[in-house]
Amino acid sequence: MLLDKKLDQLPLTKSKPDTLKHLFGNTNTIPMWVADMDFEIDPTIQKALIERISNSSLAYEYKPSSYFEAQKKWYKDQYGVNLNPLDIIFSPSITTSISIIIENFTSEKDGIIIQPPVFMEFRDVIRNTKRRVTKNVLQLINGCYQIDFTDLEKKAKDKNNKIMILCNPHNPVGRVWKIKELKRIVNICKENNIILIADEIHKDIVFYNNEFTSILKFLKDWDKIIVCHSEAKTFNLAGISDSIAIIPNEALRSSVKTIFKKYNLGRTNALTRTAIETAYKKGNTWLKKLNKIIENNVNSIERELIKSKSKIKLIKPEGTYQVWLDLRGIFSDSKEMFSHVTNKSGIGLNAGHWFGREGSLFIRMNIATSNEKVLFAINQIIKSVV
Ligand SMILES: Cc1ncc(COP(=O)(O)O)c(C=O)c1O
Repeated sequence: MLLDKKLDQLPLTKSKPDTLKHLFGNTNTIPMWVADMDFEIDPTIQKALIERISNSSLAYEYKPSSYFEAQKKWYKDQYGVNLNPLDIIFSPSITTSISIIIENFTSEKDGIIIQPPVFMEFRDVIRNTKRRVTKNVLQLINGCYQIDFTDLEKKAKDKNNKIMILCNPHNPVGRVWKIKELKRIVNICKENNIILIADEIHKDIVFYNNEFTSILKFLKDWDKIIVCHSEAKTFNLAGISDSIAIIPNEALRSSVKTIFKKYNLGRTNALTRTAIETAYKKGNTWLKKLNKIIENNVNSIERELIKSKSKIKLIKPEGTYQVWLDLRGIFSDSKEMFSHVTNKSGIGLNAGHWFGREGSLFIRMNIATSNEKVLFAINQIIKSVV
């Protein structure tokens, strides 16, 4: 797998000078924060896109049956899920879907349960829709994040809380939730009539023999389950990707569909359609190689931290292409830690507290890049704190 040779020529969000200056204080920072990849896309997808553009027309498109067949097969082969195309609503982005679902099924000030430290836009969406963030904080026990089920039960029993957003695999802590854990979550939601939204955007980046289980596997136990996902992360298509909401419950789906219709969301984009259909049909070989590269990068980070006897601790991920590093043994102030590490290392990372105060004194590093760059970055970070 090659690195993208043309990255420097592209107006990428992660290296936008104003953004680098705003987040890291200078424009020379090496960007390893936004969760996208430095790798060029699967050549089969690239070829399909070039062929599509070579065709003279980019007129309105619909998604043909070949798209749905490829998607159905991908779901069956990858996750053992029988996907019904009729359950799918297409959406410009996952956060669009989550906002609409929250607005549609809850009222202002209702509580939405999230599990921080977690993808910050969950919190933003909840606040922007004037709902309340209800935290079921993840617990770090012996180097592995766990769900506090006693607390989750308590939060679910509170009638003011109406929806739970699950992140599986979890960004930023890298857990790929096990069947036992998912079952417990589903049961708690069922017992308390909580709508369960599972954001499965990181589902395909899983390694060390871990296995991703879609929440769709539990539909027979609880049908107020909604899956939001896209192929943006898996195939490095964030610049053109749309997303889907899978809503098997007919009443929920038709209610959400009405809003999508009202705002005319979910149009087909010719390039998105081409890229994703090709990814479903031919992307598996590339994806397998990608997961090996990510696993190798995690191993390298672990080795460098051990070799240098650094006080930085790696929270070893089971999935996602980010690593979550614990600096609590070195610093006591999160903002001070972040500016110190940024300035001294020259690497642009995500501050842990961006994911909620539960992430204070941690940093997240994107490792979807060459092993050489990962080694350089981790050694810069190690040196920055000695
Ligand atoms: C868990 C999670 N959900 C959603 C997104 C973004 O999805 P979208 O751009 O479709 O809203 C990200 C991006 O990093 C993410 O990590």
